Amino acid sequence: MQKPLTIIVFGATGDLFSTKLAPALFDLHQKKLLPEGTEIVGFSRKPFLNDQFRAFIQNALAVRAKGAALEPEEFVARARYHQGNLTEAESYTSLGKFLAERDESRGVCSDKLFYLAVPPNLYETVFRELAASGLAIPCAPGIPDEEKAWTRVLVEKPFGSDECEAARLDKVLGSLFEESQIFRIDHYLAKEAVQNIISFRFSNPLFESLWNREHIERVEIVMHEAGGVGERGAFYDSVGALRDVGQNHILQMLALVAMEKPASFDAKAIRAARQEVLGKVARDGDSLADSVVRGQYEGYQNERGVAPDSRTETYFRIIAGVKNNRWKGVPFVLESGKALAESRVFIAVLFKGEPQNVLSFNISPTEEISVGFFAKRAGFGFEVEPKRLAFSFSGDPLAAALSGGYERVLMDCIRGDQTLFASTGEVKAQWKFITSILEGWGKLPLKLYKKGSREVV
Ligand code: BG6
Repeated sequence: MQKPLTIIVFGATGDLFSTKLAPALFDLHQKKLLPEGTEIVGFSRKPFLNDQFRAFIQNALAVRAKGAALEPEEFVARARYHQGNLTEAESYTSLGKFLAERDESRGVCSDKLFYLAVPPNLYETVFRELAASGLAIPCAPGIPDEEKAWTRVLVEKPFGSDECEAARLDKVLGSLFEESQIFRIDHYLAKEAVQNIISFRFSNPLFESLWNREHIERVEIVMHEAGGVGERGAFYDSVGALRDVGQNHILQMLALVAMEKPASFDAKAIRAARQEVLGKVARDGDSLADSVVRGQYEGYQNERGVAPDSRTETYFRIIAGVKNNRWKGVPFVLESGKALAESRVFIAVLFKGEPQNVLSFNISPTEEISVGFFAKRAGFGFEVEPKRLAFSFSGDPLAAALSGGYERVLMDCIRGDQTLFASTGEVKAQWKFITSILEGWGKLPLKLYKKGSREVV
């Protein structure tokens, strides 16, 4: 029988919870996918009462619903709040008491999922306090093993701030928790359109037979956002675009495009294939300046929480390569930025030859795979014109419902499936590459660009 579940969100009054987690949990609740009796406990410094926390959630859901009808009452009734300071041991003790009392009053020993929606510089403290307070130990000692609850830790990215710090964090984490308890999130891996990259590649010999340097001229992985840093200025300013999305989402998309066929399609083999190719990623070009551009949008320094003289990048473009036989000499252009002309995430695989065929995996706003090809224009001549063959998930209600990624992240963690979570080895390889760029990064010019720019040159 499925046990009741308690999801404890550290940093529950922050942006991640209101924009992504609360809506995803609400959707899972609506679909009746959460275990019966699931409770959500917000744990944060803000002095909220339960009702204020519920109102906060309700507001977050209303923002997402954009005026559409919503019946959130039953869902928000699952939520409770416990105030505490994430850096103080007593807060963890009191959280432990609070959780034990909740379990006791319900007469259950619930599974516990700890979600770290906190700035990465707090991870180490939270890990240590979680372990020291005994919160990570399943409750109800003395009951038979099969009835024992589990505890799992979900960690957001970025995990660490460079190779060395990530390795140190890994050590702490590994000494406190078993690997099977640790779920390192990259919510891009949980997007249907991103998972479809490997399904598509390995189920269509037509394309897979061309998937190499003989036929592919260039690969572009692009993540443009129209929005600026919004309410996340303070966090973002300490991280920057490269660590925020380059170290994780962009490199994971690269891994799926470039990896070899896994030995099987189970979690272990897929993670191993991703890790293998991530270990081969390197910068192209002789000097950093040849292959990397960093930029900052005008007005960024006036954003709330951002240092007035900040040199943090809100944009980057990197020309990378994959050092193996399949990809030698093929540039992988990795680009991301905030406050650009439009929000668009896509991977374009540009084939050799003139005119040029392009295969695109569009991740957002539309979830679509398309092939750009050429066909005859009607008429007397033989002129050709560009056409597209496209397949879209947009009509698929299940894909649409799961499109944010967080529903899948939460469900897989509840089910204990680690396929869509980055392994220790992957994160290590990602940091190795990013750190090689960060080393000379500060010396590169920071190009200012206007909000709404189409490109940064
Ligand atoms: C997050 C980054 O991981 O991904 C954000 O921290 C970014 O800065 C977001 O906006 C983009 O995710 P999505 O799913 O909205 O494309």
